[in-house]
Amino acid sequence: MKYLVTGGAGFIGSAFVRLCLRERPDVEIVNLDKLTYAGNLENLAEVSDSPRYSFVKGDIAELDFVHNLVAETKPDAIVHFAAESHVDRSILSPEPVIRTNFHGTFCLLEAARRNQVPRFHHVSTDEVYGSLEEPLEADESYPLKASSPYSASKAGSDLLALSYHTTYHMAVTVSRASNNYGPYHFPEKLIPLMISNALEDKPLPIYGDGLQVRDWLYVDDHCRAIQAVLDKGRSGEIYNIGGSRSLPNREVVEMILAITGKPKSLMVTVKDRPGHDRRYALSSEKLTRATGWTPLVPFEEGLAATVRWYQEHRDWVARVKSGEYQSYYDKNYAGR
Ligand code: NAD
Ligand code: DAU
Repeated sequence: MKYLVTGGAGFIGSAFVRLCLRERPDVEIVNLDKLTYAGNLENLAEVSDSPRYSFVKGDIAELDFVHNLVAETKPDAIVHFAAESHVDRSILSPEPVIRTNFHGTFCLLEAARRNQVPRFHHVSTDEVYGSLEEPLEADESYPLKASSPYSASKAGSDLLALSYHTTYHMAVTVSRASNNYGPYHFPEKLIPLMISNALEDKPLPIYGDGLQVRDWLYVDDHCRAIQAVLDKGRSGEIYNIGGSRSLPNREVVEMILAITGKPKSLMVTVKDRPGHDRRYALSSEKLTRATGWTPLVPFEEGLAATVRWYQEHRDWVARVKSGEYQSYYDKNYAGR
């Protein structure tokens, strides 16, 4: 099996590449990544010498380039992770989000159609269902209600991917996962931001009352679920991937402070995110029924391992937080 993985230098894409090469001797991977601020080849150091791995730098939103690459590499499947993935950045600057997430997905689908790629898997998010009142859980037929430019771009790209199944009979699957966490997570997202700031004794900015609920999924559990969908998923179907661990943000941050031994006084309340979704909740029953997948890593265990990883990779954090990161941080947090 040859996979063309997009966004394989990012947080989840790189975990998928590492896991696949470790556990699937039958898989060869071509990683297509633009290396935006979020793409980092250091995340792939352990596989870079593998004869089953190769890297191509490029932009998924350039149709001719993507078409030629697909024609040349002839993948058995495209596994599509590449995206502008941060909600706050999508609020500050929506244009690259729409370009990559919607138009980029279109270019990949079109290249797959023209080159008759046997399988296309689109990696999406629980954010497309919007905020759910307790005790509701979204299954795959739950209505779409995107709140941010990021979630709207993902909802649009989900529909586009499914339209290629309906119209062109392409073998397309879509997965919608909840909030991931784990090693190599870019420190703009809640968990890695709070861990890295706590380790540097910097303030931990909590949006609004901090009672927004997210369902946490360890990144390797997500990657195993995607592999299960690739192996056993049915074309034209959507599969939710939840972590079964819903917690308010404030509680997650308090757990990080307890693990790092830092005081609660580091937590500061800042102005809320515009359009902030209050609660995400997913049912993954369909995926479990179809593939037997369930999440394996309990949150306490995964969080402790993640904190340990950040403690042991301070150089990685320092490099990632230098340059562009600081100007983003100032733009997002200074006015709050
Ligand atoms: P990330 O921001 O860490 O990585 C994104 C990767 O895509 C980077 O390597 C970047 O260089 C690459 N990329 C961006 N624009 C590109 C372009 N135009 N062409 C080629 N490459 C480009 O993102 P992530 O958190 O790993 O998310 C991966 C996917 O999973 C996304 O599709 C996201 O919507 C989805 N997802 C993420 C989460 C989460 O909690 N992080 C949860 C559910 C779904
Ligand atoms: O639900 C899946 C989604 O999870 C993915 O599709 C996105 O790619 C991913 O970024 C993530 O989106 P969220 O907006 O839920 O994640 P984020 O880490 O940005 O925020 C998690 C919660 O923490 C959210 O309620 C906002 C809050 N938050 C976040 C930051 C960065 C804070 O209170 N303070 C912060 O500084």
